[in-house]
Amino acid sequence: MPLKKYLERAEKEGFALGAFNAANWEVVKAICQAAEKLKAPVIIESSPGEADYIALENLGDLIENAKAKARLPIFLNLDHGKSIEAVKQALKCGFDMVHFDGSGLDFEENKKITKRAVLLARKKKVVIEGELGYISGRSEAFLKMPVEEIQSLGVFTDSDEAKIFVKATGIDVLAVFIGNVHGMYKGEPKLDLERLSQIREKTQCWLSLHGGSGIEVRQIKQAIKRGIVKINVNTELRLAYKKKVKEVFSQSNEVAIYKLMPPVIEAVQKVVEEKIKIFGSAGKR
Ligand code: G3H
Ligand code: ZN
Repeated sequence: MPLKKYLERAEKEGFALGAFNAANWEVVKAICQAAEKLKAPVIIESSPGEADYIALENLGDLIENAKAKARLPIFLNLDHGKSIEAVKQALKCGFDMVHFDGSGLDFEENKKITKRAVLLARKKKVVIEGELGYISGRSEAFLKMPVEEIQSLGVFTDSDEAKIFVKATGIDVLAVFIGNVHGMYKGEPKLDLERLSQIREKTQCWLSLHGGSGIEVRQIKQAIKRGIVKINVNTELRLAYKKKVKEVFSQSNEVAIYKLMPPVIEAVQKVVEEKIKIFGSAGKR
């Protein structure tokens, strides 16, 4: 079943697909194992930095192989692609979805370039996500700053603008800023759920929630009820990975890295499993 069908199903049945970031084999493996265990459809994605590290071609091949082996609905997404070139490259590498992030551009420019990305994606029947508003925060800055301070640096998605944007571009999924920040900070972000409902009502578009790390479970569930069908999670995976690497590497004299990595993979897998359960996508393969 193509990704679009899963998004349709998510909308109808009230769950969200987890979109988990990966830049190496261990994280890909952790996500695949979690998906397999819970019989869940998942999206694996790489942001530009992660894609530079692993190379989109390699990620494409890794996922192809993993899919064939496990016969799983695993989809591949370019996360926060910032240029038409990046979109083209992901399409060339067989991605199932591309996210063109024009949130750094002014409204007209964002609309114009997103529309170009939509035309390219359509040709390959690939799901296309656009972004409106600005999602603040970075994965590296976790815990030090109060979350409200980070939220105040974002630009909330306006529902009227969103309506124009969706209609003009023809995107399948819209990434919104409703208080959801990238990274983890002091305190949990409070989402503007009323705004989310308004955006959904005016656009009738599938909506994605970025910055899925560190959001309270109750709010995640509320957001899914109000139209979120895809939730991006990265920082919590990175934190679990780093914590376990530190622990394992400091406690062992082993030098064969592959022998040291299974507990690290397990730690990341645990986080992915928790998220899949919260998002309600377990058993939806
Ligand atoms: O695009 C990726 C996500 O929005 C990840 O956000 O690191 O806060 O989970 P996060
Ligand atoms: Zn994001």
